[in-house]
Amino acid sequence: MPRIAYVNGRYLAHRDATVHIEDRGYQFADGVYEVCEVAQGFIVDMTRHLDRLNRSLNELAIGWPLHRSALVTVMREVIRRNRVANGLVYLQVTRGVAPRDHAFPPAGTRPSLVVTAKKSDPVAAAAKAEGGVKVITVAENRWDRVDIKTVGLLPNVLAKQQAREKGAHEAWFVDAGGNVTEGASTNAWIVTRDGVLVTRPAEHGILRGITRTTVFDVARKHGLAIEERGFSVEEARTAREAFITSATSIVMPVVAIDEHSVANGQPGSIALSLRAAFFDVAEKSPA
Ligand code: PDD
Repeated sequence: MPRIAYVNGRYLAHRDATVHIEDRGYQFADGVYEVCEVAQGFIVDMTRHLDRLNRSLNELAIGWPLHRSALVTVMREVIRRNRVANGLVYLQVTRGVAPRDHAFPPAGTRPSLVVTAKKSDPVAAAAKAEGGVKVITVAENRWDRVDIKTVGLLPNVLAKQQAREKGAHEAWFVDAGGNVTEGASTNAWIVTRDGVLVTRPAEHGILRGITRTTVFDVARKHGLAIEERGFSVEEARTAREAFITSATSIVMPVVAIDEHSVANGQPGSIALSLRAAFFDVAEKSPA
């Protein structure tokens, strides 16, 4: 069955789905995106993802391409047409198509919208979580508005490629003070010897992950304490556990950082229990 993508009002065969060469997303990375997990026929935490999309659009003064409810209809239709029960739905909104000029295009330029959906294998993901993943560390080199989920991801791309080349799953950015900010496409966490969850405050230095926010809810429900503060690479290496969160990985244990094992090199029990409890707490909207 061919994959279908939504592009500016039309459902197209994925291989023929294109945007104009003067789309500002293509020329300037002048756009934002969201990735929502689809699990067992539900869109996970859709309200929070669309709220964050709204924030990203507002921060960049890009208008909504459709009413929010119409966007939800498109998301559901793309998921349905691609028969995705488990996987993800991707939305991208750019400032639209206009002759190349750095300043904003004329008022009335229509934002571009692309929506795609893709299947993933929950069994493979569960197996990955049971083994845990490795991360490497790289120097933070991004701008100071990474709280906006823009498609301008070149430092993240280069960091992730470095991780791949070193046989690791993720790269953690480390700021000038020696503290971990976040991963190339995930938020970073540790668990202290006392069982306290530690993650960096969601200021401008990280993206406020939706999975991160829902893990706060899971932790509260299970009586786990959370400290929002920076942590160093050294603290992470000697922590009881480390893990990463994102819509595509949910809670994924980290078992090594730059070739040093975290604790005994096995996935931590708190990370695995947060992962197991996640869907009981997350919002599930019928896809
Ligand atoms: N990435 N930090 C960065 C830099 C990210 O790109 C992401 C998500 C996260 C986690 O956010 P959330 O929990 O809302 O997925 C943190 C998505 C999955 C991606 O780019 O594919």
